[in-house]
Amino acid sequence: MKTVGSDVAVIHPAKNIVGSLRVPGDKSISHRYALLGAIANGRTRIANFSTGADCASTLTCIRGLGCKVSHFGGNVEIDGRGLHLQAPTSPLDCGNSGSTMRMLAGILAGQKFTSEMFGDDSLSKRPMRRVMDPLSAMGAKFESQDGRPPLRVTGGKLKAIDYKLPVPSAQVKSAVLLAGLYADGETVVEEPVRTRDHTEIGLRAFGVDVSRMGNRIRIRGGQALNAVDAIVPGDLSSAAFFLCAAAIFPKSNLVLDGVGMNPTRAVLLDVLTSMGARTRVIKLEEHQGELVGMITVEPGDLRGTTISGDVTAAVVDEVPVLAAIAPFTRDGVTIRDAQELRVKESDRLAVVAENLRIMGAKVEEHPDGLTIPGGQQLHGGEIQSHGDHRIAMAFAVAGLRASQETRIFGADAARISFPEFFHLLQQLTSA
Ligand code: S3P
Repeated sequence: MKTVGSDVAVIHPAKNIVGSLRVPGDKSISHRYALLGAIANGRTRIANFSTGADCASTLTCIRGLGCKVSHFGGNVEIDGRGLHLQAPTSPLDCGNSGSTMRMLAGILAGQKFTSEMFGDDSLSKRPMRRVMDPLSAMGAKFESQDGRPPLRVTGGKLKAIDYKLPVPSAQVKSAVLLAGLYADGETVVEEPVRTRDHTEIGLRAFGVDVSRMGNRIRIRGGQALNAVDAIVPGDLSSAAFFLCAAAIFPKSNLVLDGVGMNPTRAVLLDVLTSMGARTRVIKLEEHQGELVGMITVEPGDLRGTTISGDVTAAVVDEVPVLAAIAPFTRDGVTIRDAQELRVKESDRLAVVAENLRIMGAKVEEHPDGLTIPGGQQLHGGEIQSHGDHRIAMAFAVAGLRASQETRIFGADAARISFPEFFHLLQQLTSA
């Protein structure tokens, strides 16, 4: 496999995935530590910070809000300003990052100034009412392009709300909890389906009292954050590409070390196990409340599975790669309750279906999912990432089991979450 020019990856059929690796720091956790570091008192030091462009966008935004940030490789230091940031002198560039824009909206809602956030073409199409609605109910004022970026936020004194999330979204939950720091009284967020809880864990690490009872999370306004020294676990959603690649080759042997094993994220391992792959977690440690472990994968007889309900929400970022390996399972994979994938960096259901078909697969697309029969041989082909990092990487994995070469146009999108991906894939595949 090699990359031609900067934006096309050529994937050759492979025999195996063999080796051991560490994936870079988790994107979700890196965003949160950076945002929490910005509003903490003191200097926060973060090791193994995500190398993805999305988290660099968060750092750019907090610099724009007056924080001194130094960033060398995976090490980031942030001089926090306490809860009240400095008014930016120009609009804040969130790049491709929905997490940056939505979670930062929660912090901007509590500031005594007006600020503006914008993003690239993909982010400019993504729905923002989901954060504007609860934050407006708390007292912030928003202007948008009919619910899409750019967003102008006029913050101020907020009032606490009791909010039931209409869509399962950790970003929206986080925005409301962060705004809750600026509210009078106690803010409550109720989530219908459990979503990743890195904000709750991160807030506690920074000294904030956040409690959960069942599916209701509470935070009191006015609490100060204290800077921390933190290590970001490896990103399980990046590891997912290698886990899935290993699962489709009968002779693979893969060890991933230092991977985040937060139970709200590790559901992917249950899905792979239910499909027939043999995954093991060998050691578990805890860093700032987040679990970190070593995972081994040995392939089993990959049967297939149905992913629906709460499980879909828990593996929301892994659906593209699970769909990409589905044709190589015995019984196929059905994905339901995944309508949220239509409003990610691309319409991931449509784009996965289109690319699988280009590679020669049969796929049925539903409004909320996909049915992909098993036992299919793919022939490769020329596919487009549509500027979506997870699509570029998912189809690199599918290409490893195709009978001929696969060309991925827009492969550079991988830099959004995992710039090292193609290089690491090359190291682990033996043609
Ligand atoms: C994220 C939450 C998910 C996920 C995204 C990261 C987060 O988005 O898809 O990649 O860090 O909170 P939603 O909140 O829209 O489900």
